[in-house]
Amino acid sequence: MTHQIGIIGGDGIGPEVVAEALKAIDAAGVAYTPVVFDLGGTRYLRDGEVLPATDLDAIRRLDAVLLGAVGVPEVTPGVIERGLLLALRFELDLYVNHRPFLAPPSPLNDGVDLVVVRENTEGAYAGEGGFLRRGTPHEVATQGSVNTRFGVERCVRYAFDLARARDRHHLTLVHKTNVLTFAGDLWDRTFRAVAAEHDDVETGYHHVDAACIYLVQDPGRYDVIVTDNLFGDILTDLAGAVSGGIGRAASANLNPDRTGPSLFEPVHGSAPDIAGTGAADPRAAIVSAAMMLEFLGEHDAATRVRDAVAKSEDVVGTTSEIGDAVAERV
Ligand code: IPM
Ligand code: MN
Repeated sequence: MTHQIGIIGGDGIGPEVVAEALKAIDAAGVAYTPVVFDLGGTRYLRDGEVLPATDLDAIRRLDAVLLGAVGVPEVTPGVIERGLLLALRFELDLYVNHRPFLAPPSPLNDGVDLVVVRENTEGAYAGEGGFLRRGTPHEVATQGSVNTRFGVERCVRYAFDLARARDRHHLTLVHKTNVLTFAGDLWDRTFRAVAAEHDDVETGYHHVDAACIYLVQDPGRYDVIVTDNLFGDILTDLAGAVSGGIGRAASANLNPDRTGPSLFEPVHGSAPDIAGTGAADPRAAIVSAAMMLEFLGEHDAATRVRDAVAKSEDVVGTTSEIGDAVAERV
């Protein structure tokens, strides 16, 4: 079967790392039709379009989307992030952001093998809030966090299923129940209720600030973490930093119900400061592509790409040199 794969290179280093991810997919011999979209800050600066309805409709009909990174410094923060990336997460109902971290022992720690399951459609990202009297001395800005039982439960269930499928069968809820007593209570009760159906999964709870300490000092204590959207955003940059750097951190924005395509992207941003220099590490994008292959049912190809990245752990070089080294090993 030929997969219809949307390609959004985006801005900055995005197109550079996506090109290397496609090399790896080609090396694995997976048949796909690339459907290329010109989207991102560069497009927006040219014609004012962020996510035209025709593009969104076309994306809905695809099997998956591979995205590099979006955002340029010339555009006001939020325009592209909310109008494109978050719009895709919400419109396609990509309610799980699955972010794996895998690294061998290093001077920082004894090795990392954990997955953060980040809720991806609610919380502080939902866009609740607004201004009153903006720009005056009496201005008010609110930005609420939206947490629904439905949204929390479907994310928590995904995390339990994942923990059940992994060796250690351990799941930690990370939140801030001691201060966020409304949202935290909903998360905590939902977590306990779903836990009661999963006797084979051992559970734990950490406040998010403590989890930051543990991720740095002893990441080996984690197997699967499930957490709220904003906490997950912040924790996954930290997890990336302690497991080989953000240039290695991959992610899958999943619609586990498969009512539409899922979207795969490196955790890193467009890094305009290094765009065009060949300094970007494509491995995060390549592992994201492997996750895409896995989700599409191409298990052998996914394993080959992942193994090739693992065998290229110590390769140093430019973006395309690293990409070539991985492709050769696929
Ligand atoms: C991420 C990014 C995004 C987020 C930005 C670009 C909107 O930081 O995927 O982690 O905050 O979710
Ligand atoms: Mn982030």
